[in-house]
Amino acid sequence: MSEAIPFPTARSTQPFGPTEPSLRTSSGRTAAVSIDPVFLDRWSPRSFQPDPITREELLPLFEAARWAPSANNEQPWTFVYALAPEDRERFLAPLAPGNRAWASRAPALVYLFARKRTRNGSAYPASSFDTGAAWMSFALQARMRGLDTHPMGGFDPAAAFEATGVDPKDHDVMIAIAVGRRGKAEALPSQLAAREHPSDRQHLGTLVHEGRWRIAGPPSTQSPG
Ligand SMILES: Cc1cc2nc3c(=O)[nH]c(=O)nc-3n(C[C@H](O)[C@H](O)[C@H](O)COP(=O)(O)O)c2cc1C
Repeated sequence: MSEAIPFPTARSTQPFGPTEPSLRTSSGRTAAVSIDPVFLDRWSPRSFQPDPITREELLPLFEAARWAPSANNEQPWTFVYALAPEDRERFLAPLAPGNRAWASRAPALVYLFARKRTRNGSAYPASSFDTGAAWMSFALQARMRGLDTHPMGGFDPAAAFEATGVDPKDHDVMIAIAVGRRGKAEALPSQLAAREHPSDRQHLGTLVHEGRWRIAGPPSTQSPG
């Protein structure tokens, strides 16, 4: 017999009711309904083991991103990565100091760009949406291979174009990504170590609506973390 899944209906007063914790992973996160553990196990650490990773380890992440869906199959994403010490130094420079402080230990750094226009030169309003899908494929494939990722919006865009050689006329820079293997929280300065844990999410009932949007019943019991 299949397990009853609490799903919101237009008629229920409490869209999801009290949820049964049906999946708890080693990350300590609990899913309201059963999903693949990789969605809970991916989180953004600041502590990375300083050991190098190889180009061969990174390639499947880019390959997973390549298969992301995009409007009209435009594939607007471009990834530029740094593994060599001199490239990593250059990629660290654009980061906000608060990010540079911990990202300097990550063995790989990546900048992700989105093409501004379609291949035939038209406006492309979905470009950043599509590039976000590619990022998520990258991040999930990383976790499936025992690697971790931390996306960063805190950097100087002009400096990111300078560091990577990507042309700002044709591209927007979306995020920087630190990639490596998560390390121990204690390896971080104390104020960052205290924040080194997976975050929680809003209650499912606040973000899913059947038929018509409406304000969810009781306030969320789960903090957004
Ligand atoms: C577009 C974007 C920009 C972000 N910028 C930063 C950043 O500059 N510094 C940082 O430490 N984390 C940054 N993050 C990470 C988020 O804070 C993190 O993904 C969010 O709190 C959820 O936590 P989780 O990824 O561990 O599940 C960013 C994430 C995204 C998607």
